[in-house]
Amino acid sequence: MTETAHPDTVLIIDFGSQVTQLIARRVREAGVYSEIVPFQSAAEAFARIRPKAVILSGSPASTIDIGSPRAPNEIFAAGVPVLGICYGEQTMCAQLGGKVEGGHHREFGRAFLEVKQECRLFDGVWPAGTRHQVWMSHGDRVTELPPGFSVVGTSTGAPFAAIADEARRFYAVQFHPEVVHTPDGAKLLSNFVVKIAGLKGDWTMAAYREQAVAAIRAQVGEGRVICALSGGVDSSVAALLIHEAVGDQLTCILVDHGLMRKNEAAEVVEMFRRHYNLPLVAVDASDRFIGALEGEADPERKRKTIGRLFIEVFEEEAKKLGGADFLAQGTLYPDVIESVSFTGGPSVTIKSHHNVGGLPERMNMKLVEPLRELFKDEVRVLGKELGLPESFIGRHPFPGPGLAIRCPGGITRDKLDILREADAIYLDEIRKAGLYDAIWQAFAVLLPVQTVGVMGDGRTYEYVCALRAVTSVDGMTADFYHYDMEFLGRAATRIINEVRGINRVVYDVTSKPPGTIEWE
Ligand code: XMP
Repeated sequence: MTETAHPDTVLIIDFGSQVTQLIARRVREAGVYSEIVPFQSAAEAFARIRPKAVILSGSPASTIDIGSPRAPNEIFAAGVPVLGICYGEQTMCAQLGGKVEGGHHREFGRAFLEVKQECRLFDGVWPAGTRHQVWMSHGDRVTELPPGFSVVGTSTGAPFAAIADEARRFYAVQFHPEVVHTPDGAKLLSNFVVKIAGLKGDWTMAAYREQAVAAIRAQVGEGRVICALSGGVDSSVAALLIHEAVGDQLTCILVDHGLMRKNEAAEVVEMFRRHYNLPLVAVDASDRFIGALEGEADPERKRKTIGRLFIEVFEEEAKKLGGADFLAQGTLYPDVIESVSFTGGPSVTIKSHHNVGGLPERMNMKLVEPLRELFKDEVRVLGKELGLPESFIGRHPFPGPGLAIRCPGGITRDKLDILREADAIYLDEIRKAGLYDAIWQAFAVLLPVQTVGVMGDGRTYEYVCALRAVTSVDGMTADFYHYDMEFLGRAATRIINEVRGINRVVYDVTSKPPGTIEWE
């Protein structure tokens, strides 16, 4: 865990709810800094961070089960306000002398809460006597309140849907205020952290930048840092932040595997060397990658070959630089807190970067991960704050294995060149049509199929190019983008006219699931 605890931090104790990250989001939207910790390390984090308020998340567990998780008792004795959500309410009641029972009416989805009493949590949002939509997801429920609490809201399935002990500033709700289906939920969370906990609500990206720079300086000291720069928004923002903190102690390495998009490597080099004066080693390793991939048609073996070579090349370059003490990574919050284990196993699964996984141990480097407390859209705001141009910030995602997984079948330099040209034309048409930002990701795929065509009275026998465009929020599920046919016709005509080697274009109308976004 980094040492960046803000003086005014809200600690969110995660009991394994699917939506804990949304609690952090809402707290940040209220201008307050927060950190999520899994319940297993909550006591240690509470002592270390000394938070100004605590929020207890929901959970798939049941407080009735032996061994189910609990909040550290010290949080209830420290005089800080506590908000329990769903399971958080139940464990709070169980721990403070109330009662929770299972086997009652279960409540999932939309429900309506009747406000029974004024309460600081509802201040300016829900007056007494009104009724509001909330989102529920629970099987157990509180049946007896702990001393000091009173009911401030009820629902059909939860007589204790909202409870409060105003004197101790303890609040608990059975519903989920963090999800959008509780339309006023964000305001309630804002009330908790600003009005009840008294936090200023002035946390901004500019403040984050200053804080992060100071934390990087403290962590790195005089050490040397290396960073694998891909041109993606995460590694770019991480590199800029570290450069601001420790200047030339950071060197970035760009491994050009020959699988990037048209002009991409050159643009990244231009941007970081020229505009930011950032020490950057660009390695053209395309022969090595393409040589190793030639004739390889199996998608998994392609990915593994690329991953292995990437590490080899990166390691060689790092050694040439004389090694480094730290490896910088653009790991984001959702990658850090992936799951909470109830079985005593490792509580936090840290996803290793697809490209440099395993390197820190091999080279005995420590990790610098300045974005590990942020969500993707927050990284974009930080990028803007650091002056990164819109063209970098708003870019569609691009996978580590690059064009290799958009070229099914064996890879050759020729095929990659054809694909690169088609892809560039397709994206150019998307930009010209003003559709780039409406689409989550768009790209061309070169199929290992040749078809017969006729051009200028002659027979052609050339490749088929598939176009893909999807809308998505997180890449986990996706729908194909519904272009109008005029657009598709225009893009197809240009590709066939301008790219030698393609005589047919098709559009992929598969959603995810059942398809994936990439073709391999
Ligand atoms: P799929 O194809 O699994 O892709 O639906 C979901 C999202 O992840 C990207 N992707 C990758 N990104 N390394 C990456 O950094 C990879 O190996 C990789 N494979 C897929 C894909 O482009 C899409 O945005």
